[in-house]
Amino acid sequence: MTAPVLEVRGLEVALGHRRARRTVLHDVSFVIEPGATLGLVGESGSGKTTTGRAIAGLVRPASGSILLDGHDVSRERWWRRPGGGTLQVVFQDPYSSMNPALRVEDILREPLRTLRLPRAEARRRSEEMLARVGLPVAALDRYVAAFSGGQRQRLAIARALVSRPRVIVCDEAVSALDLSVQAQVLNLLKDLQEELGIAYLFIGHNLDVVEFMSHRIAVLYEGRVVESGDAAEVLRRPTHAYTRRLVSAILSPDPREQARRRALVTATPTQEGPS
Ligand SMILES: Nc1ncnc2c1ncn2[C@@H]1O[C@H](COP(=O)(O)OP(=O)(O)O)[C@@H](O)[C@H]1O
Ligand SMILES: [Mg+2]
Repeated sequence: MTAPVLEVRGLEVALGHRRARRTVLHDVSFVIEPGATLGLVGESGSGKTTTGRAIAGLVRPASGSILLDGHDVSRERWWRRPGGGTLQVVFQDPYSSMNPALRVEDILREPLRTLRLPRAEARRRSEEMLARVGLPVAALDRYVAAFSGGQRQRLAIARALVSRPRVIVCDEAVSALDLSVQAQVLNLLKDLQEELGIAYLFIGHNLDVVEFMSHRIAVLYEGRVVESGDAAEVLRRPTHAYTRRLVSAILSPDPREQARRRALVTATPTQEGPS
């Protein structure tokens, strides 16, 4: 067995202040192997985003460990972490995750900083990544503020990918995109996984999308992992009552509708310009 690139063990996180403080993650554990995707599903409020934020060093766990390449980073906040190289995050909302007053070139150069590439090489890599997420190369010289929500999200994905990290946490990373752009980005994430061996923690609420992306799935319920295993197994033959409810609530009972959504997700998109 290969050593996991990300291992979360007994993660416990409490949020809120004083009397409002409560434990939102209880004993969350999972591993992700290099080049693999773990889908994390669960209803709204189950603790998916908090898990991603803890892994990214944005909230401090009360206990447990987070091992990146075998190194426990659970006590290191994000600004102490080794930059760029190991872990990147894509959040759902590109409006809050990117400073609109920055130029695209600066957004993309930031994760490359620690790689100390010559400026021309950094620019070349940034151009390549922009093209791969379907944005024009000319975007490099423009300000983030000039782009639509969908374009900003593709930019956020380009920023996460440009340094070729070992792990990317994708928290509802494509949920806000149009279906055709969604399919394009999902296929891009998969292609880059094959090419570069990137591992993903893929958080989503659309189970078709999560299944398409994931090798394994973990189901969160009220801050606990209640079920995990092979992606298709967990969704087709859920053993936990909560997973069964989740699957029946979210999967359409109409098989034609299911087939249609699956086709949308798995279709190889045609190359298209920015929307
Ligand atoms: N800053 C916060 N302070 C207090 N409680 C929070 C905070 N952020 C999230 N929570 C609570 O933590 C729980 C998990 O939230 P979250 O991780 O965002 O769930 P999900 O992403 O699965 O919808 C929810 O009950 C939410 O209300
Ligand atoms: Mg969330």
